[in-house]
Amino acid sequence: MCGIVGIVGNAPVSERMVEALKRLEYRGYDSAGIAVIEDGRIARRRAPGKLENLRAVVAESPVDGVTGIAHTRWATHGVPNEANAHPHIAGSVAVVHNGIIENFAELKAELIAAGAAFTSDTDTEVVARMLDHYRCAGMAPREAVLAMLARVTGAFALVILFEDRPDTLYVARFGPPLAVGYGDGEMFVGSDAIALAPFAHGISYLEDGDMAIVDRDGVEFCDFAGNPVSRRRQPLQLSSMLIDKGNHRHFMEKEIFDQPEVISHTLGHYCDFASERVAVDGDGIDFSRVSRLQIAACGTAYLSGLIGKYWIERIARLPVEIDVASEFRYREIPVSKEDLALFISQSGETADTLASLRYCKESGARTGALVNVTGSTIAREADAVFPILAGPEISVASTKAFTCQLALMASLALRAGRERGTLSEADERLMVHQLSEVPRLMSRVLHDVQPKIERLARELSRFHHVLYLGRGTSYPLALEGALKLKEITYIHAEGYAAGELKHGPIALIDENMPVIVIAPHDRFFEKTVSNMQEVAARDGRIIFITDESGAKASDLKTMETIVLPDMPEFIAPMVFSLPIQLLAYHTAVFMGTDADQPRNLAKAVTVE
Ligand code: G6P
Repeated sequence: MCGIVGIVGNAPVSERMVEALKRLEYRGYDSAGIAVIEDGRIARRRAPGKLENLRAVVAESPVDGVTGIAHTRWATHGVPNEANAHPHIAGSVAVVHNGIIENFAELKAELIAAGAAFTSDTDTEVVARMLDHYRCAGMAPREAVLAMLARVTGAFALVILFEDRPDTLYVARFGPPLAVGYGDGEMFVGSDAIALAPFAHGISYLEDGDMAIVDRDGVEFCDFAGNPVSRRRQPLQLSSMLIDKGNHRHFMEKEIFDQPEVISHTLGHYCDFASERVAVDGDGIDFSRVSRLQIAACGTAYLSGLIGKYWIERIARLPVEIDVASEFRYREIPVSKEDLALFISQSGETADTLASLRYCKESGARTGALVNVTGSTIAREADAVFPILAGPEISVASTKAFTCQLALMASLALRAGRERGTLSEADERLMVHQLSEVPRLMSRVLHDVQPKIERLARELSRFHHVLYLGRGTSYPLALEGALKLKEITYIHAEGYAAGELKHGPIALIDENMPVIVIAPHDRFFEKTVSNMQEVAARDGRIIFITDESGAKASDLKTMETIVLPDMPEFIAPMVFSLPIQLLAYHTAVFMGTDADQPRNLAKAVTVE
């Protein structure tokens, strides 16, 4: 939530800061702003709404300076208007912030009592006002920042610019991510490596409790008490960070169509297709010694974990507990040293998932991170890291990260089955072979179903409520289908286990509530078809997503039937993800909502 950029440059920075914000816009797009030192004074430009609005303001009224800070906002405190947009300025101090200052009300009252006048409703402004207060009382910038850090509680990534220190940025982290980038005679600060990639060739990540002073010559790290700390400088690989939409209208469309290729990288990393065996990595995990697996994640990542649970329990006979991380972290779950705890996260920065990881580490469990961003906090804190290898995902709604998480989960299930002696070598070979078919099947589905789904999306856009049903691994897919649709079209959608239909949702069925049934011709097919019959008997409109055998085996009248090729049950969740993603995407395009940046959402949820 919220993206931050800072540059101490040797050439004008405003355009570069807006370019960097563009790469961070996935973190929030309620408003944006920049502040630079121009002729010795802080000059600021801000605009509510998407970054394009700021771009227009800067074009109309340019600012010129070689040191600056910038921000794209996901609103927590205060509505998304210009007054609440960052940077916040108090006297000669400008601040950008990602996170929540939890004790802001108390600090604000103190500052008002001391004569401060606030101009926004944000929690961030207390940081600027406090710094201004300390500076006016005669403190040097470093001392003022340390004094401020001693007072604030909550979660924050901060970048601070003082008018009388035009060549220096003061930054601090406690919670949300922040990194320092090394350029040629220039230094950068950003929320993630993607923001810094075009400018920097090296990167250092701040740890929680770090402050850094960045100037043109380099960076000095210390803790909040001012004691020096050292942070490793790592190379920043530009090529993996290059991002554009290619010929697609949206990143979401591109990311959906990227899937056959990226999933082949993930599968190729975790499976050896030549020997048809799953590749065992030297990550120190031995599934034969694990007595229980715990999984915590949020949103779409949680749903990939839910599918993983079905696979791991069935293939490796290993009990799996899974919960959304916001509940997991507070449930006080008994966790033992024999447990393995896995955390799934595209960004590797989701606050609740990170807190769940820390809870399990403290309880002595071995931890593993399934992350797309390998430099992320979750990756750095887990005992073992399993990269998802989906490449940068920009669209807020997750697509390729989801299917790559599934590919990784499927590979881990096979590995766990092998290590626990529940999967024969012959079955392992067969299932690895089945995984090798996924990229080809995905390409075929993307090619075949697109025109029909576009037509269907037009019809679906007329409805206000949609129900998704599935059994077995198609149940989490039904949840994912509903999540995708509601996220980007704002149509109310619910996912249900098909067997639960008679326990409530059947009361809602009428001709105004399409029911999307995900049912490959698997062990559960007949049962799901009887649920479809119950829907049809009540004038429900059915959209049937099945395979060739399933289409032949059912003669029910449907609003539309989407037919995928026949495929083994094991790999179906990866391939069946595509029609539900495309249906949500095309419905959004048809309805004119912003598929890449749906209202109120952000890609990385770094606050609770
Ligand atoms: C947000 C995003 C989702 C994502 C979820 C978890 O809600 O909009 O697409 O699935 O966060 O994010 P993570 O980065 O932990 O996978």
